[in-house]
Amino acid sequence: MQIRKAKYLIRAVALLALTFSLASAYDPGPLQDCCVFVNGKFCNDPKLTSANDFFFSGLNVSRSTSNPLRSNVTAVNVDNLARLNTLGISLAHVDFAPYGLNPPHIHPCGSEFIIVLEGTLYVGFDTSNGDGNRLFTIMLYPGDVFVFLIGLIHFLLNVGNTNAIAFAGLSSQNPGVITIANAAFQVDKNLVEYLQKQF
Ligand SMILES: *[C@@H]1O[C@H](CO)[C@@H](O)[C@H](O)[C@H]1NC(C)=O
Ligand SMILES: *[C@@H]1O[C@H](CO)[C@@H](O)[C@H](O)[C@H]1NC(C)=O
Repeated sequence: MQIRKAKYLIRAVALLALTFSLASAYDPGPLQDCCVFVNGKFCNDPKLTSANDFFFSGLNVSRSTSNPLRSNVTAVNVDNLARLNTLGISLAHVDFAPYGLNPPHIHPCGSEFIIVLEGTLYVGFDTSNGDGNRLFTIMLYPGDVFVFLIGLIHFLLNVGNTNAIAFAGLSSQNPGVITIANAAFQVDKNLVEYLQKQF
């Protein structure tokens, strides 16, 4: 009886070890189904959580593109869908009027991949100093997917004379945005001339 128990135990441990070794080939999962209070965000008591806590709607409606860039980004991240807290994912919906631009920007905390639903987008990203500061660009059509690496400058331009729509998935619940133009183009004209002379 003892031996049979021991054998059973060994088999169980071996199975468990196999499960863990298989599991470690994947990204680690979230540590809890329903968090309580993490990263300064409140989450619901699991017993009081409902489907609505996981829900966001309205991305079927095009946003206004009456602005100088003729584009509009709707982000769904931990700020407007609290249950994304600790999950490391978010998404964005981008509307473009004809020739609308999502100007060069960085997401410091997440990689991004986009899928074009409508229109023709010319997109690109710039690699880092170590990779030779190369600019990669490509034309994307409906159904095309493209990836922007975390922290690299990228842009999306609607080159068609119709509206365009893209969806983006990001590997962070709060990827952050630094728009290069907003940060850099406020530099004084004399300083820009000085900086240009250095190259
Ligand atoms: C968007 O979806 C909402 C909710 O399902 C629906 O009420 C609304 O009519 C839809 N709007 C458009 C423009 O499709
Ligand atoms: C984006 O669209 C929303 C809703 O249409 C509008 O309230 C907002 O002002 C728009 N943002 C920009 C930058 O145009």
